[in-house]
Amino acid sequence: MKTLRIRGGACLQGTAAVPGDKSISHRAVILASLATGTSTIRGFVPARDCLATVRAMRALGVPIMVEQSPDRDRAAPPASNLIVHGVGPRRLEPPKKPIDCGGSATTMRLLAGVLAAQPFSSMLTGNTQLLARPMGRIVQPLQRMGATIHALGKENRPPLAIHPAEQLCGAIIHTPAASAQVKSCLLLAGLFAQGETTVAQPCVTRDHTERLMRSLGVCVRNRELESARVSICPPSLQPELSRMDTVVPGDMSSAAFLIAAAAVCANSRVTIQHVGLNPTRAGFLNALRRMGIQRECREHVDDASDDAREPVGDVTIRSAPLRGIHIPCRHSNADRDVTRCKDVIHRASTSIVAMIDELPLLAVAATQARGATLVRQAAELRVKEVDRITGIAEELRKLGGDIQELPDGFRVQGPTPLRGAAVDSRGDHRLAMALAVAGLCAQGQTTVAGAECVDDSFPGFADCLRRLGARVEEAEQS
Ligand code: S3P
Repeated sequence: MKTLRIRGGACLQGTAAVPGDKSISHRAVILASLATGTSTIRGFVPARDCLATVRAMRALGVPIMVEQSPDRDRAAPPASNLIVHGVGPRRLEPPKKPIDCGGSATTMRLLAGVLAAQPFSSMLTGNTQLLARPMGRIVQPLQRMGATIHALGKENRPPLAIHPAEQLCGAIIHTPAASAQVKSCLLLAGLFAQGETTVAQPCVTRDHTERLMRSLGVCVRNRELESARVSICPPSLQPELSRMDTVVPGDMSSAAFLIAAAAVCANSRVTIQHVGLNPTRAGFLNALRRMGIQRECREHVDDASDDAREPVGDVTIRSAPLRGIHIPCRHSNADRDVTRCKDVIHRASTSIVAMIDELPLLAVAATQARGATLVRQAAELRVKEVDRITGIAEELRKLGGDIQELPDGFRVQGPTPLRGAAVDSRGDHRLAMALAVAGLCAQGQTTVAGAECVDDSFPGFADCLRRLGARVEEAEQS
């Protein structure tokens, strides 16, 4: 077991890069596998979750080579280049045994959309954490499209057993949860369905699948600009998926830990280079701005010219006195604010979905903010890798945080001086890193037990913090 040992009172200075975006890495491997020809994916994050997707596609007969990225300097986090010899959408091979998705719900949910349309049976399984995640949200709509898919666990939990269906049929599917994984699963199934498939969600969710699909020539339509209703044209109207040559931008959800650390550690100034600025993911940056943080964003890749059509840029953050906020904001029409406009940061949303993975980290920042921070409508956090509402509330209290758990969120009263303590990741990568950030502004030493899960999304996290001046050590414990 790995432990992170953090000394408080750091001041962070310098420039950093973070690993490639996890969501984009998953999608790029799956789509490159379904394309015809050889694709290269540079800046792929060799995180445990994304490597599970690579293993899964290999199990379906797709040759994939993983190389250590040669064009990264030693100061950069680990990155891989992937060479994917795409077999085309109809030439996947039956897997010889159940596909193990490890702890990655993204792998399981996205792949289910592809496998539901194949002329062979398959089974998707995973570790104990993944076997506890809800799958009814994809099983039911896939069944509506004609798929033969069943969740074998209690209450629609995995494993998932998938059998050949005659032909998937496009449908208009309203999903109660605003989930990019569900949307992506159905769009992938829609690639094989007869007729148009439309996914209508309560609000706009991360749109990496749509951007990547469009870059491969797939016809994906939004009824209105950036609406929460997305349609994929039937295969008869689609050209073959073309091969891709893409560079995965840095993951905003990983950058968020460095950004938050710079925000809460006095006299800090940090620049994160080449990070994804997709407005559907920039909620945390916007929230920090509303809390009083000064930051500059310089977008340096044109939205439309990048291969994956993702806006990318550098973000500089300086520490500042923070004030509490309410999320969702009482007056915002947040979802309509998500635009494709170049000025992504000013226009982008502070909706819950635009920062869903960053909410535990927001609780940490809120302990240092004047006044109350209230997060509601975030019950989805209870069905992530672990229950992240209970997890962050109980662990932050050990450090002296004044945080109250609510059924669908939390309330933090600040500012409170944190004091170093022994805390536990509970096996959740985002909790582990959020608690490490809390340790940076706590007095004395904090230890985060169970820190090996950091590798699920951010290999090289501790190195990255050290290079910025933080005192963080990793220790192995038996
Ligand atoms: C993800 C979507 C989000 C997010 C997860 C990754 C994705 O989950 O929390 O870490 O890659 O689509 P939901 O779609 O379930 O909200």
